[in-house]
Amino acid sequence: MAEVYSISMNKGGVGKTSLVTNLAGAITKQMKKKVLIIDTDGQGNSSIAFGFKQPNDFEYTIYDVLMGEKNAKDVIIEVSPHLHILPSNKDMNFLEFDILPNLHQYGEPFKLLTRHVVGIQDQYDYIFIDTPPSMGLVAGNVLAIADKVIIPFAPETFGVNGLINVIEGVSDFKKKENPSLEIAGVVGMMLDSRTSLHGELIKQARQYCFEHDINMCDTVIPKSIRFANATAYDGKPATWSDSNNPIVKAYYELLEEVLPHGKKG
Ligand SMILES: Nc1ncnc2c1ncn2[C@@H]1O[C@H](COP(=O)(O)OP(=O)(O)O)[C@@H](O)[C@H]1O
Ligand SMILES: [Mg+2]
Repeated sequence: MAEVYSISMNKGGVGKTSLVTNLAGAITKQMKKKVLIIDTDGQGNSSIAFGFKQPNDFEYTIYDVLMGEKNAKDVIIEVSPHLHILPSNKDMNFLEFDILPNLHQYGEPFKLLTRHVVGIQDQYDYIFIDTPPSMGLVAGNVLAIADKVIIPFAPETFGVNGLINVIEGVSDFKKKENPSLEIAGVVGMMLDSRTSLHGELIKQARQYCFEHDINMCDTVIPKSIRFANATAYDGKPATWSDSNNPIVKAYYELLEEVLPHGKKG
């Protein structure tokens, strides 16, 4: 049974897609486990990261699955034998418009994804779900099926209050909708060691997590504009390159921290 990870943060540009694609890439390279990425963000960046340049060309996507018109297995694409993607594209930007006025047809609003994931869960070791930068219908559906949440914290983009909001949102969701949901870890993203503000904000985040019994990973992903630009055109995640770059090393270290138990069940 696959363990299901949601990468959640209601802001854009904080490294959600980078975390999803690099952790998935690292697992398949290092462990020969089978991984599925489910992209639920209308930008379709998870498939772009693996070289699919035009997500809008996908005939069917997660949108058709959530609308109940396609089965997940008919939409999933194979990147490699061990890495599959259930892609997304701009159709997802209309999901709430299409579902909310007709909710009575769909049953429980946060259970649109559940049966589809349950139906394919035994075919993978890990499922990583990339999410949009908002806490709405889509984020709720993802948290309803997730076992664990990874929360990126990019100090450049927002302060510790933004992080606290998401942690509280996830805890609230756990109480009301998914009691088995756990925060696997908060991960410092795109850290510039020369910027003292970054260090200060990470310290504050660690303090908050410590006080609230939340795991904040020791590993942080350093910032490297040059490397980010290079991988953006490479058509594969950084963890699939042979680079000795600190970013690649950090992702492999992070993997050890967030997947301590390996395969579940
Ligand atoms: N370690 C890093 N250093 C510098 N830039 C990065 C790093 N990781 C990701 N980026 C860049 O930051 C931007 C936002 O990252 P992304 O993963 O797409 O965030 P999100 O999915 O939260 O919107 C992208 O342009 C990406 O290439
Ligand atoms: Mg993204």
